[in-house]
Parts: sequence; structure tokens; C-alpha cells
Amino acid sequence: MDLTGRVAIVTGSGRGLGLAYARALVAAGASVVVNDVDQQAVDAAVAAIGGDTVGVAAAVGDTASAELLVGRAVETFGKLDVLITNAGILRDRVLWKMTDDDFDAVIGVHLRGTFTCARAAAVRMREQGTGGRIILIGSPAGQRGNFGQTNYAAAKAGIAAMARTWALELARNEITVNAVIPVAATEMTKTIPAFAPAIEEAERTGTPYPAWLRHDEGLGTVEDVTGLITFLASDAAKGITGQAIGVGGDKLSLWSHPAEKAVVYAEGGWSADAIAAAWDFEQETYGIPAPKK
Ligand SMILES: NC(=O)c1ccc[n+]([C@@H]2O[C@H](COP(=O)([O-])OP(=O)(O)OC[C@H]3O[C@@H](n4cnc5c(N)ncnc54)[C@H](O)[C@@H]3O)[C@@H](O)[C@H]2O)c1
Repeated sequence: MDLTGRVAIVTGSGRGLGLAYARALVAAGASVVVNDVDQQAVDAAVAAIGGDTVGVAAAVGDTASAELLVGRAVETFGKLDVLITNAGILRDRVLWKMTDDDFDAVIGVHLRGTFTCARAAAVRMREQGTGGRIILIGSPAGQRGNFGQTNYAAAKAGIAAMARTWALELARNEITVNAVIPVAATEMTKTIPAFAPAIEEAERTGTPYPAWLRHDEGLGTVEDVTGLITFLASDAAKGITGQAIGVGGDKLSLWSHPAEKAVVYAEGGWSADAIAAAWDFEQETYGIPAPKK
């Protein structure tokens, strides 16, 4: 995939998946704005990636940060072609213990940050008139719900919904909008009890992650996710929009969107008693499936 001449912003690219995305885009020939809330992480990432990169330390969430990022892409590289909204945090707690601050912090970075960055990018891309790529980062938690992740699941589900909405709104401008649903070992996920021992063992011995992790759980390294990002940023993906696409380890998947699964009608409408009498729906499953091993 050749991305020579393309200009991308990757939020939260000081470490983890974002750093891998920025590195892969530069390797494919793109110029990249590297962003993180942490100045040291930005400086280290820019030094490590090299190539055509510029660093911007800013906390994604508010409009000023979004405009700063788009402005820096344009000042430094002359335009903006690709936005990847990857910055993220976790504040996990069950509902009855979750504070307002836990909720607002996660919604602020993920949902609001995705909104403000995408809006600033869309304004610029529409002015340019040469199309574009907006790649949002969702999560299995947002697709399915996850214990202890009220704030994060809500934000990530909202992000998938925004991808579908913006795909509609930006289609005429040839700006595609997709949500990537990644799974990879990072600081955010390495400590999940079901996976931690296998990841630690692989890292200690320098061996690949075991097949059950890569294949059955679809969990691999951050580099395993980068092929999808590069593909979506490229001309090869110009016809793909409004999708939620999963990737991790050996697995690539297309997520279904919510749709009515079963429908029944009653002339004149449904009373509570009529619903009780007619209820024959097979309920949907929910939650991320427990690890198989
Ligand atoms: N790792 C996984 O398996 C996985 C699964 C599903 C979704 N995701 C999503 O992928 C993205 C990256 O996750 P990761 O695992 O690499 O996490 P990570 O914690 O390793 O990296 C996140 C980066 O975002 C930065 N960041 C946090 N708040 C920021 C802000 N306000 N502005 C700018 N930067 C900020 C952090 O400093 C950090 O460098 C997140 O959106 C996460 O929710 C990850």
C-alpha cells in the first residue's frame, strides 16, 4: 500500500496501538501528526518513528485541541487526508460505584474527543474537496457491553453510531468513515487476567503469542492491527464506509449493525397484556464472550 503524499493525524499515538498506526502510516509513505496528552510520549514517538512526523502534545476532548491538530497538519504538511481517533483512557467500575468524574473523563476523551476531532477534520476535508478517510476506534465493549465499563461501553457504542451517521453525511464528499474494533496486547489490556500469563510468557521468552490467543481470542500484537488501518487509509478502501471492522491476532471480521431481528404485528397496536401473551422472541446475547481457555 502506497500512501505517499497523504497526510494523517493519529490521536493518542505516543504509545500502544496509536504509535503502531503512526509508524505503519509513515512506513507506507504518509506524513503524520503524532499526538498524545503526554509531551514525553510525543517526543519519544516522533524520535522513534522518524520520517515525516510532527508532534503535538494536547489533550484530545475539547474543540481547541481538535483545531490545533488539524491546523498543525495543514501548517506543516499543507493538507489533511486521514484522521484516526485513537486516544483513550479507562476508568473501570461497576455502575453503582462509578463516579461522575469516572463517567465524564471517559466520555470526554473517547466520545467528545472523537466528535470534536472528526468535526474539525470534516470541515477541512470538505474545503479541500479531495475526499478523505476518517477512521474511528471502537471496542468490543461498545459492540457487546462489558462488565465494569459503563462509561467506556457507552462511549465506544456511540463512536460506532457516529461512524454510521457520518458515513451518510460525508458520502457526497467522498470522505469514508469506518470504525475499527481492535484487540491487541497493550498497557490497556495486558493485565486482563485470562491473557496476562500467556502474554508475559511470550514477551519474556521472545516467542510469538500462542495460537489460542491469536486465533481463538483474536488477540495479538499492536502490529497485527496496523494492516487494516493502512488499508482503510488507502485508495483500495475508497468504497468502504459506514462499517465496523474487527481485527486482532489472526482474525479479521466484519461486525453486523443493529437491525430488527424478529417482527410481529397486531392491528391497532400492542397492549401490555397482548405483548405478554405473544412474547416469543429469542433474546439476543450480550457481553463480550468469556475467554475460551
Ligand atoms: N488494546 C486493545 O485491545 C483495545 C481494544 C479495543 C479498543 N482499544 C482502543 O484503542 C485505542 C488505543 O488503546 P491502547 O490499548 O493502545 O491504549 P494505551 O493506553 O496503550 O494508549 C492510549 C494512548 O492515548 C493517550 N491519551 C489518553 N488520553 C488522551 C487525550 N485526552 N489526548 C491525547 N492522548 C490521550 C495515552 O497517553 C496513551 O498514549 C483506545 O481508544 C482504546 O480504547 C484498544
